[in-house]
Amino acid sequence: MSQPHLTVAAAPLEPVALAEQKIWDVPTRVFHWMLVLCFAGAWLTAESERTQLVHITLGYCAGALVLWRVLWGLVGSPYALFRDFVRSPVAALRYLRTYLPGSRVAPRRYLGHNPAGAWAVLGLLVLMALSVATGWWSYQSSAPEFAGALHELLTHALLLLIALHVLAVVATGRLHGESLVRAMWTGRKRALPEQGIRSSHSLIGLLLLVAIGALAGMLFTGRLPGLTN
Ligand code: HEM
Ligand code: HEM
Repeated sequence: MSQPHLTVAAAPLEPVALAEQKIWDVPTRVFHWMLVLCFAGAWLTAESERTQLVHITLGYCAGALVLWRVLWGLVGSPYALFRDFVRSPVAALRYLRTYLPGSRVAPRRYLGHNPAGAWAVLGLLVLMALSVATGWWSYQSSAPEFAGALHELLTHALLLLIALHVLAVVATGRLHGESLVRAMWTGRKRALPEQGIRSSHSLIGLLLLVAIGALAGMLFTGRLPGLTN
């Protein structure tokens, strides 16, 4: 399938002169902000016995969101596809080099994830999945002490990567005179009309929201006992 926007998207567009187009579909935005809520909630409820059920409920929901994102990265809308944004490590380093003082090339503006950001996205997904898996492991009665320590270590590594992710998101947006955070909320960025996605897939986004809500309800009320006890 030819995807003309993908090549144009990598061009160093000046956002100021362009109109806003749909770039991030609804499922991607629902995924992102629910993942943020689940991570924050799981983090805040991690220490007390009293909040353990909330902790594991939110942790499993984060895991379900990651599984969903892998699927959407294979069949979703253009900018959500792994094949749109995953590039080689060399491409990522080349991109990062343009930020060094003395670089003769200005950092490019991307409508989807930039080549370095793409690796951060993969890192966030993998660390999130490993955090959930080790959380599940440490919750088993047969788990060694080491499982809990590993779970804690991984979630702390994830927190560090999240901090880096937020800093990079804010800094890159400032460089190009736009708010990437707003774009992840509204789905819109300044671009050429032909670079916008055709459908926001709102219904799929709504279904994702409902499915994660239902999963949370079932976990919290003990209707999936194999997972919560
Ligand atoms: C728990 C914390 C967070 C996690 C786990 C996380 C994870 C992710 C992931 C996996 C993506 C890729 C989205 C996709 O393609 O589906 C992403 C993108 C993004 N995130 Fe986060 N995020 C977190 C917090 C935040 C926060 C607090 C902000 C805002 C300040 C933010 C702003 C963004 C933006 C703007 C993008 C799109 C980046 C781009 O334009 O390339 N994230 N994040
Ligand atoms: C987003 C996912 C998750 C995050 C961010 C997270 C975070 C954390 C953190 C920071 C701790 C250490 C608390 C302390 O200071 O003592 C912890 C402990 C724990 N978490 Fe998670 N967790 C997640 C998912 C899960 C899941 C899915 C489960 C179970 C199914 C789970 C079960 C546990 C258990 C049992 C402990 C106590 C471990 C021990 O000290 O042996 N977590 N979690």
